[in-house]
Amino acid sequence: MTGLHPKRLPGRVVVVTGAARGQGAAEAEALTREGARVVATDVTDAPGCRRLDVTDEQAWAELALELRESYGEIHGLVNNAGITWRARLDEVSPEDFARVHAVNVVGPLLGIRHLAPLMRPGASIVNVGSSAALTGHYPVAYTSSKWALRGLSKTAALELGPRGVRVNMIHPGFIETEMTASAAPAFRAANIRETPLGRTGTVDEVTPLVVFLLSAESSFVTGAEIPVDGGLTAHGGVKSISDALQ
Ligand code: NAI
Repeated sequence: MTGLHPKRLPGRVVVVTGAARGQGAAEAEALTREGARVVATDVTDAPGCRRLDVTDEQAWAELALELRESYGEIHGLVNNAGITWRARLDEVSPEDFARVHAVNVVGPLLGIRHLAPLMRPGASIVNVGSSAALTGHYPVAYTSSKWALRGLSKTAALELGPRGVRVNMIHPGFIETEMTASAAPAFRAANIRETPLGRTGTVDEVTPLVVFLLSAESSFVTGAEIPVDGGLTAHGGVKSISDALQ
């Protein structure tokens, strides 16, 4: 039956960063299913992925040149690549702080700067934030970088709006990927306790939102931030009060 369903991204050229695994891989698959021509990229070598370290400006410039030659224009960019670093305020080194920012903020900045010139009205950029971007989450480098990405997204929406290019953000909560697999069991349990839906999420619960934001269905949505977190950030940290009184 799905074959009869009209594609939502027919022929759209979309670049996804960090697409070797986790959410990026799932996004690349879902976008392809909707008819997009996906340019999957990652810093690691993976089947079907073009090599791109998002912190490398020269690599972005080369990708932009290739895309211009191959397609003339592109229609979407998903700034998904990200790294975490679970050091606290008193533990984090300035080097690690900068390294996390280089991937999580400078990467999207370079991506937008190099690929936006290939975009025409109707194109769409999705920046992958985090519930950490909406809260005072303890891994300070990660949290700061994702808050900074919000600022970049807002400014990019402002700058690119007059050209008809939209920029939005999604904020995943605890999603089952290799990133979260490396977290302590207590981290997982505490996340579930704070999540009204009472469970973790899957990559397949994130991808429909990315498809929507890249498609014409969201043609008047820009500068927006949409959590996909089972309600984790909606209660502002007071779920424990409700739970205590049950
Ligand atoms: P993951 O660790 O499974 O995958 C991240 C991918 O990014 C990997 O393939 C990695 O090789 C790639 N990557 C890392 N550094 C890169 C670089 N310099 N250049 C290009 N690619 C690079 O992580 P996951 O969970 O799929 O995360 C995807 C995005 O979602 C990240 O931005 C992450 O911060 C965010 N996120 C994840 C959450 C989760 O619970 N898994 C929660 C909230 C946000």
